[in-house]
Amino acid sequence: MTNQPEQQPGQLKQQAIAITIRDTCTTSEGVTGERKVKLIVNRSSPVSPVSGGQFKNKDIRLDAKVVIITGANAGIGKEAAIECAKRGARVYMGCRDPARMEKARQEILDKSGSQNVFGLELDLASFESIRSFVKTFLSMERRLHVLINNAGVMACPKEYTKEGFEMHFGTNHLGHFLLTNLLLDVLKRSAPSRIVTVSSLGHKWGRINKDDINAEKDYGEWDAYTQSKLCNILFSRHLAKRLSGTGVNTYALHPGAINTELMRHLNPCIRTMAKPVFWVFFKTPKSGAQTTLYCAMEPTIASQTGLYYSDCKLKEPEPHAKDDSTAEWLWNLSERLTGLSH
Ligand SMILES: NC(=O)c1ccc[n+]([C@@H]2O[C@H](COP(=O)([O-])OP(=O)(O)OC[C@H]3O[C@@H](n4cnc5c(N)ncnc54)[C@H](OP(=O)(O)O)[C@@H]3O)[C@@H](O)[C@H]2O)c1
Repeated sequence: MTNQPEQQPGQLKQQAIAITIRDTCTTSEGVTGERKVKLIVNRSSPVSPVSGGQFKNKDIRLDAKVVIITGANAGIGKEAAIECAKRGARVYMGCRDPARMEKARQEILDKSGSQNVFGLELDLASFESIRSFVKTFLSMERRLHVLINNAGVMACPKEYTKEGFEMHFGTNHLGHFLLTNLLLDVLKRSAPSRIVTVSSLGHKWGRINKDDINAEKDYGEWDAYTQSKLCNILFSRHLAKRLSGTGVNTYALHPGAINTELMRHLNPCIRTMAKPVFWVFFKTPKSGAQTTLYCAMEPTIASQTGLYYSDCKLKEPEPHAKDDSTAEWLWNLSERLTGLSH
């Protein structure tokens, strides 16, 4: 079996892959020979098995709506930003690296044809940076209709945020916890509004390590990542209860397995070897953004809140992601750790 990019012009060159399978076969007349089957997998096709659920509602516009997307300079965050901008939203990118942010912003402007895409520096691994982002945003906008908590790190070496929290817990959970809480007043003023939090199927293997949530005694990069993704769902679930009656709804989601830079901390040899597999079997970032867009806009889920989605459909998360007492415990701890309560 050979596996090479198909030589085709334009975008298809990037999106299609030809897989040639050779085997021997015998015809009904008893003649044996070699046959070649060429399968072209177009990864952008909606019917491709790796595209997953697609947000099909092309008519929804976001004119006069304000959207914040964290980590919008890469991967699925960037794709979500392009689509929101195309539909008329004023899009605020929250990104930690100004140069990468500006490069992505230019690309988003080009691809969306919008002039309303703005970049504000935001390092979710620093409470000071989060507070400064919110202050600047509130000096520019009086409304916020969709907050997309998308940024994330995965399987990084043992590192700490500026305030000394383990990097996955600190960035993926605590950073978004503080950001969301600081934006709650403007979200309430702008209701109906939505808070979309990008979690992962990885929550299935996550455990809330109540005795060592900051991984001080023992560190495993996958335990830290899956714990943070479980935190995302518990956070979204508990927040929905607190926001009951406000018109601000919450949505948590698994975007699928997507070929993005999220894998950057994996062993380089494994990454190189796995590249063709990622290419064929993982979603493109554009397909990976579909469930985020669905949660941000789909009208038929406007009355749902606190739930979990995958492939543009409602999905049951694992039972431990519906544990309300752990969700409340995590909320109280997060309030203390971020200084929102003393
Ligand atoms: N890819 C998958 O298969 C997959 C599967 C399940 C869930 N997810 C989730 O999907 C989300 C998006 O990931 P992706 O696949 O699009 O990965 P990605 O391409 O690596 O994008 C992640 C984004 O997060 C940003 N980020 C990381 N740390 C940050 C910080 N401290 N402050 C601000 N921004 C920060 C990155 O900024 P820099 O460019 O500056 O690093 C980047 O823009 C993540 O929450 C991830 O857990 C992804």
